[in-house]
Amino acid sequence: MALQYTFPEDFWWGSATSATQIEGAASEDGKGLNIWDYWYSKEPNRFFNGVGPETTSDFYHTYKEDIQRMKDIGHNSFRFSISWARLIPGGEGDVNEEAAAFYHRVIDELLAQDIEPFANLFHFDMPLEMQEKGGWESREVVDAYAVFAEKCFELFGEKVQKWFTFNEPIVPVEGGYLYDFHYPNVVDFKRAVQVAYHTIIAHAKAVEVFKKRSIPNGKIGTILNLTPSYPRSQNPADLRASRIADLFFNRSFLDPMVKGEFPEELTAILREHGQLPEMLEGDKELVKRNTAELLGVNYYQPRRVKAKEHLPNPYGPFMLDWYFDLYEMPGRKMNPYRGWEIYEKGVYDIMINLRDNYGNIESFISENGMGVQDEERFMENGQIQDDYRIDFIREHLKWLHRAIQEGCNAKGYHLWSFMDNWSWMNAYKNRYGFFSVNIETQERTPKKSAGWITEVSKNNGF
Ligand code: NOJ
Repeated sequence: MALQYTFPEDFWWGSATSATQIEGAASEDGKGLNIWDYWYSKEPNRFFNGVGPETTSDFYHTYKEDIQRMKDIGHNSFRFSISWARLIPGGEGDVNEEAAAFYHRVIDELLAQDIEPFANLFHFDMPLEMQEKGGWESREVVDAYAVFAEKCFELFGEKVQKWFTFNEPIVPVEGGYLYDFHYPNVVDFKRAVQVAYHTIIAHAKAVEVFKKRSIPNGKIGTILNLTPSYPRSQNPADLRASRIADLFFNRSFLDPMVKGEFPEELTAILREHGQLPEMLEGDKELVKRNTAELLGVNYYQPRRVKAKEHLPNPYGPFMLDWYFDLYEMPGRKMNPYRGWEIYEKGVYDIMINLRDNYGNIESFISENGMGVQDEERFMENGQIQDDYRIDFIREHLKWLHRAIQEGCNAKGYHLWSFMDNWSWMNAYKNRYGFFSVNIETQERTPKKSAGWITEVSKNNGF
């Protein structure tokens, strides 16, 4: 049968995960604590059904069989993250040899199965001691992160070619410093800006260290959650609101990390409200020199924006939403099982933007996926019949295909996620995997989508 959608040769088919969300073994083999271990020990009831990060999907013990499953469903690439607190307990000092051995085993197993490892250095999991020093608010922590990054390149650089400095760096800013869904639950715009700024500096430092090592065929990039901003109407007030939302949520990281520049309009807004971060001499040049060579795009949903209807109290603390409101576009398509909008064309719009405004940087969809609550209700004959996920992936792939046809430099598609995993405060509430996971027995069962993606990846299209 002729394929209607064929992807370029060597297209990256795979999935994405992160250490805290899949490994478990949170207190085994000398791993240090990270903010999630700590926060859960203090406030277990904040987490859905009281489930914490101790065991998650037990990948620490099941990696070998899991990698076999990846192979079985046609993966040629796979993203994992290296837990800073596992590799260097406390965040600074000696490497935990058992942790290094674990990541070597994972990487070796992937390579043995012909699955390219994509290694990410930071996925929301600050070591507790580093948080106690101020987390990303502290320049010392930025330097400790650069040392950790260097250690990773030294240990695994001979085996891993694709590296990422951060996953969704804006999320710890929003979660930890604006909206109370990550530790340290601060709500303070100025501190949030400092955290964002230091993350960008940390990225630049890691890239600089990476380039000095010159890993053969090595590439270093970053992974951003891009949420295209769509204005309610074409009237100037809505257009401006949408542009500013785009500056805050997308360009804040995209411009410095990919172009090496901070968007002027954003800097001007921060300056006007007295919210600029502390910067050191030489930072600007550091950022300019060390841009990403590869960009992972996590895309889940768009942002629908309208002009503010009520002006904020000018004496109240400055907040993100001073310039725009979000709105629910009538007729939008919703994920009925999670409450997020589904807008497949967003993938295409993001890629065209990268092509036209970001030098057509080499990129890929590093996450896309559909979270579903109470997914067991779709179980029939021992398998979750997730036709909704198949449709979701297929429709996004169609738009990605079109973007590639129009010259976008998109190299792959990774689903979030390989198997159901622990989603921070939501724990196991929303399921995302190709494989379902029974968290009591750790049994994995392929969902219908696993069979579907096997065909798609093997045929390199559909
Ligand atoms: C993005 C994040 O990278 C990941 O940690 C999270 O679980 C998924 N989105 C699903 O919400």
